[in-house]
Amino acid sequence: MQRGKFISFEGSEGCGKSTQIRRFVDWLRGTGREVLVTREPGGTGVGEKIRHLLQHDPDGAALTAESELLLFAASRAQLVREVIRPALDRGVWVVADRFLDSTTVYQGVGRGLDPEAVRHINAFAVGSALPELTFLLDLDAAIGHARAVAASGDQHDRMESEPLAFFESVRRGYLALAAAEPGRIAVIDASASIDEVFAALVRTFEARLAISPA
Ligand code: TMP
Repeated sequence: MQRGKFISFEGSEGCGKSTQIRRFVDWLRGTGREVLVTREPGGTGVGEKIRHLLQHDPDGAALTAESELLLFAASRAQLVREVIRPALDRGVWVVADRFLDSTTVYQGVGRGLDPEAVRHINAFAVGSALPELTFLLDLDAAIGHARAVAASGDQHDRMESEPLAFFESVRRGYLALAAAEPGRIAVIDASASIDEVFAALVRTFEARLAISPA
């Protein structure tokens, strides 16, 4: 049986990632493929507990940047082995709402942790499970941050409470990563309308991955 393909979505807060993932996955299923969607941090029992600690638990406020990195990596290590690898082995396609690039950028660039340490920890956590295609939804940091804050009302998570300069460095980090790995990471202009962004996703998918039959 043919292995499934692995696609990830990345981008800073407010870039429209969730909306586009929903649409893209509906479309991909419509082509006859079986598709599993994961989100990070989370996606397993262990991962959802880690997500709560990272995002909403008051004790999370005491997390150091190093602990934060290891918790994101732990959530991903669990997700890869419990969910992603078995699905790909069964021939199911996996669409991930964030994967290792989020750690490279948020912890390695945003938090300023040693990029080599981040690279090693990422590699250890994911093993050989790497996306064949990554969509980076790129949007001006101020616009994205304003959208995210408006959407979450007064329930800001830990990341959303960061200053705008943090999200500007995240955007720069993502664009640098995409320039370094153009064969895997496709930059999509997320300032366009929802329909236009979706059309760009499908065009890019067809150009890069559609050779794989359903
Ligand atoms: P989201 O569910 O809105 O995508 O939020 C997840 C938050 O966690 C977002 O602010 C990005 C952040 N994050 C990291 O800092 N590192 C990571 O490795 C991952 C997966 C997410």
